[in-house]
Parts: sequence; structure tokens; C-alpha cells
Amino acid sequence: MVSPDQSHSVCRPTSVGCSRRHFLEASAAVTTVTLGVLFPNRVFSEDENRSVRVVHLPRQKVGRLSELQIDQPVYFRYPDDSDLSVCMLVRTGERSGGGIGADQDVVAFSCRCTHLGGSLEQEYRSRHKVVGPCPLHLTTFDVTRHGMVVAGHATQALPQILLESDGDDVVAVGIAGLLYGRSRNDQFLSPV
Ligand code: FES
Repeated sequence: MVSPDQSHSVCRPTSVGCSRRHFLEASAAVTTVTLGVLFPNRVFSEDENRSVRVVHLPRQKVGRLSELQIDQPVYFRYPDDSDLSVCMLVRTGERSGGGIGADQDVVAFSCRCTHLGGSLEQEYRSRHKVVGPCPLHLTTFDVTRHGMVVAGHATQALPQILLESDGDDVVAVGIAGLLYGRSRNDQFLSPV
């Protein structure tokens, strides 16, 4: 996701010092912002020009901003305690899609591969800011771009845990995308 102030970066291909790549990136950013306004319950990826359904779930504290070190993931379970609910919280050190914190670089993702459920725990690669390759069939996901697939068999992005900050607390509030092995992200939650 991009913030509305990024829309000011729009330029035209004929402008001095503005490459075609920059023009395309700026156009995609404006499209993403516009779609986000029109459809607030969906996350729009500027990279794949697609939307992902967002499911809002119970709030759960998953960490503290002041304790997160760059490229040092911490693991938690969300939205329940099942083995399929292991997630990773990481400060990437660079602005990331959906990121929170002063540098918008704190993101969280499911640790189950969307292909056939391979475990992605301990598979964060700090050099390229990706998770993977998956130990089963080598899919790799970009955590700075909403978990999009950058290589491998999977066709679905890694589900992104939606985060909010509450003071220093990092709070999970929902999931963009469907967790592996479920028909609903909340199917293992006890009825309130
Ligand atoms: S289970 Fe991860 S690539 Fe197949």
C-alpha cells in the first residue's frame, strides 16, 4: 500500500530526468491509492495490480516496536494457537508495504507457504528482504511488497498480518489473504 502523499511523485515520460520506469511506478501508485479509497476493505498491491480480501480479526499484541531489531524476526501465533498459525514479525529496515512504525518498516506474515503449506519459519533472508526459498518447492516471497511471490510454484502471496501500533505495542488486527489449510481465517477461533 502506499500513502496518499506518494501521489505527488507522478511524472510524465517526457519530463527531463524522469525515466519510463519511474513513470510506470508512479502511475501504479496513483492507481493503488485510488482503488484503496474506493474499496477500503481490500488491500491493493502496487506490484501485481490485484486486490486481496482483508479479514478483520480479534486484536492481539504481538510485539513492541522498541524491541524489534532490523532483520531479526520474532515469531508468534495468530489468529489462534494452531500449528498453521505461526507468523513472523520483522523490521525490514526499509519502507515496506503495510509497514508500521516511524519508518513504516515493521511487517508480519504467515509462516505457511501458500503452495502446499511448507514451513517458512527461520527462512527470512535479510539480504533480499524475502522469506524463502520454501524448503519444499522453493517458492520465495517478498516481505517489502505485501508478500508477493518472486520465484517458485506458489501463485498466491504470503498472507500478510495487518498491524497497528498502540503506543509502543505492535497489535495484529487482521489478515490480508487466506491462511494455508483453511476455508476461513477464523475457522479455529472459539465463538465469542
Ligand atoms: S510448499 Fe512451499 S513451494 Fe511448495
